[in-house]
Amino acid sequence: MKIGVFGTGMVGETIGSKLVALGHEVKMGSRTATNDKALAWVKKAGAKASTGTFADAAAFGEMVFVCVAGGGALDAVRAGAKGLDGKVVVDVTNPLDFSKGMPPTLFVATSDSLGEQIQRELPKSHVVKSLNTINCNVMVEPSRVPGDHDVFVSGNDAGAKTKVRQVLTEWFGWKKENVIDLGDITTARGTECYLMLWLRLWGALGTPDLNVHVVRAKK
Ligand SMILES: NC(=O)c1ccc[n+]([C@@H]2O[C@H](COP(=O)([O-])OP(=O)(O)OC[C@H]3O[C@@H](n4cnc5c(N)ncnc54)[C@H](OP(=O)(O)O)[C@@H]3O)[C@@H](O)[C@H]2O)c1
Repeated sequence: MKIGVFGTGMVGETIGSKLVALGHEVKMGSRTATNDKALAWVKKAGAKASTGTFADAAAFGEMVFVCVAGGGALDAVRAGAKGLDGKVVVDVTNPLDFSKGMPPTLFVATSDSLGEQIQRELPKSHVVKSLNTINCNVMVEPSRVPGDHDVFVSGNDAGAKTKVRQVLTEWFGWKKENVIDLGDITTARGTECYLMLWLRLWGALGTPDLNVHVVRAKK
């Protein structure tokens, strides 16, 4: 497949590299077509990797991952909006606000979410929030954390969620039973607010290779 990845940070690079390793063609999008990190990644990742602006990556991808800083997410998707029409947009962002130092706060929470804001910005796209509750290395290699642990999907379109579920299980290696569909895009409020706990777990345990598993009683 041809896939667009918005973001030149560790998440964009990790997801982009995994997709290339699986044989897909990936265009990494940035605010400029000649971003140093993106160019370095293309050199490292090889012939199936390319770079361009957010608009270039949006037009290129049959599916697009949004892996940009939360505060830049709406600008990034606005820049790529035309190319994202009708496509599945996997939103991996978190609305982290570092303006007052560490630990960050959330700039939108409880009554709205960045996932919903992105969906409102892209009414003709199918936004699926996922993977935002997990460190990027674990996103594409869940076996870094032993045992059962879960990844969530939130989105309004059932077909889009099925495609993202396939990406998670068939490409990234998540067990089917560990993919939890929370419901429509408003459920992204839950996974984004979870970041407040994730950050404390990281601090307490001293490793980002961690995740949660939801245990339920039999019906
Ligand atoms: N780190 C993790 O393991 C992890 C796990 C789960 C979720 N997340 C989320 O994934 C996202 C990416 O995280 P990251 O650590 O890889 O990278 P990051 O440093 O948060 O973001 C880098 C990307 O954001 C873009 N960006 C920054 N400000 C922007 C603006 N004002 N307008 C448009 N684009 C802007 C940059 O564009 P340029 O390329 O043009 O500089 C760059 O591509 C974040 O939302 C983060 O919360 C991260």
